[in-house]
Order: sequence, then structure tokens, then C-alpha cells
Amino acid sequence: MTKSTSPALKKLMEMAQKAAQNAYAPYSKFRVGAALQLSNGETVMGANVENASYGLSICAERAALVRAVSQFGPKIRIVAVAVANLNKMPSPPCGACRQMLAEFAEPDAPVMFPAAEGTRSIAFSDLLPLGFEMKLK
Ligand code: THU
Repeated sequence: MTKSTSPALKKLMEMAQKAAQNAYAPYSKFRVGAALQLSNGETVMGANVENASYGLSICAERAALVRAVSQFGPKIRIVAVAVANLNKMPSPPCGACRQMLAEFAEPDAPVMFPAAEGTRSIAFSDLLPLGFEMKLK
């Protein structure tokens, strides 16, 4: 994170780190946490939850997202995202999580995640420039 990172974004990253402690990752041992800042002022956290049937595992970002919608309803807007892991490894949100977040994230929402050079922060629209949208007539 750069020196100009706001205290609010730093706090969000701390919440993502805290959320990672609740990860259930006995198979990969890769413990991830995510924190979403919502436009209604609420913050929602999530952790990855794995399964013996590996493909059923859910990432921290999607765990946080479904929790946010379940708690606050379908009109939520995500204004910032933080992702952390306890493995000291780079972990940008995976493609599935980007596509799921796209329905609720503001294009200019900063997305912070561990990268090789340290914490990286980029706008959501740069993270997923061509997400699929269903435009029904
Ligand atoms: N994982 C996340 O929670 N978020 C990501 O963006 C990438 C991967 C989890 C899924 C799985 O439980 C573990 O990390 C290893 O892939």
C-alpha cells in the first residue's frame, strides 16, 4: 500500500487479515480473508471455506459478497474491497470472484490485494475490464 492510502482503506485491509483467521482451508492450507466496504457504511468480511469435494470450495471474496447481499439486500453497492492471506503470497481476486463482484462493485472502487511488490490497489474496472453483463430487453 502506498503512503497515501487512507486510514479507512488501511482498516479495511486489517479486517481482511482478521477475516482470514476464520478460513476453513484444510486442503490447500491457503487462508484468505476479504472485507467489503459498502456504500451504506457497513463493512462485511468473509473467509474461504473449502470442501472435500474440492470444486465446491468458496473463495473469501464470494463468501463476503453473499453475506453482504444476504444481510443488506440486493441494492448494496461495494465501494472498496480488501483481500488478504496468511500465507505471505500474492492473491489477487480470482476470475470467478471478479465476475461475481462486478454486479455490485462501483467501477472506481479500489481493490487491494497482496502482490509480489506488496499490497497493490487498483480500480475494479481495471481488475475486470470486460465482465459479462446480461442486458435483458
Ligand atoms: N481463494 C480465495 O479465497 N480467493 C481467491 O481470490 C483465490 C483463491 C481460495 C480458494 C481456495 O480455498 C484457496 O484459496 C486455494 O485456491
